[in-house]
Amino acid sequence: MALEHIAAQGKLSGEIIRRLRDFLRAGKTSRRVRADLNSIVKEAADLVSFEARRKEITLQLELGNELPTVRADPIQIEQVLLNLVRNAIEAIDGTKCARREVVIRTRRSSDNRAEVSVQDTGPGIPEGEGETIFEPFVTTKPDGMGMGLSISRSIIDTHDAELESVPNPEGGSIFRFMLPAAEGGGLQ
Ligand SMILES: Nc1ncnc2c1ncn2[C@@H]1O[C@H](COP(=O)(O)OP(=O)(O)OP(=O)(O)O)[C@@H](O)[C@H]1O
Ligand SMILES: [Mg+2]
Repeated sequence: MALEHIAAQGKLSGEIIRRLRDFLRAGKTSRRVRADLNSIVKEAADLVSFEARRKEITLQLELGNELPTVRADPIQIEQVLLNLVRNAIEAIDGTKCARREVVIRTRRSSDNRAEVSVQDTGPGIPEGEGETIFEPFVTTKPDGMGMGLSISRSIIDTHDAELESVPNPEGGSIFRFMLPAAEGGGLQ
């Protein structure tokens, strides 16, 4: 499976294997609980707030009201958000952007799903590379592994949702996904 394939490609490294093992382990022990997306977002934002401040980037939260309770693995969803926000911070920091701003938004979609998006004012994704960036080992960073988005997409797939990227109309990019509401409903 994937591990042999990677070894064959000669891209084997301790760090890659460690991350893949963590991910596969996380997949096996993946749990589904009724979760509040806004709480997960706040926790992830707390974890990156120091890094954002150090790089003089404003991290803003715009959390919607009346989000449906979702059925998710909160640790995995937080992992995805951390990957996305770190990418956003790195994108802004890698260029001389006049505006240095990351916004994490949540909202209830018209079909009662809970949507979260991470928007940045970085350089955006070059045309035609919108899908390539989700492939493993695709990176433009000197110390990047190109694993963040590929792992994030797999996690969101297992939550019956889709991780997608769209251009930020104001410049930069937006990554977003929508989680289905938990059965039995309930609003946060
Ligand atoms: N918000 C973004 N703005 C611009 N480019 C992005 C953004 N997010 C990802 N990318 C591009 O997609 C590539 C792949 O991202 P991914 O998170 O998979 O890997 P990485 O950040 O390079 O390394 P890793 O996450 O494994 O440390 C990045 O190297 C970057 O070129
Ligand atoms: Mg990354």
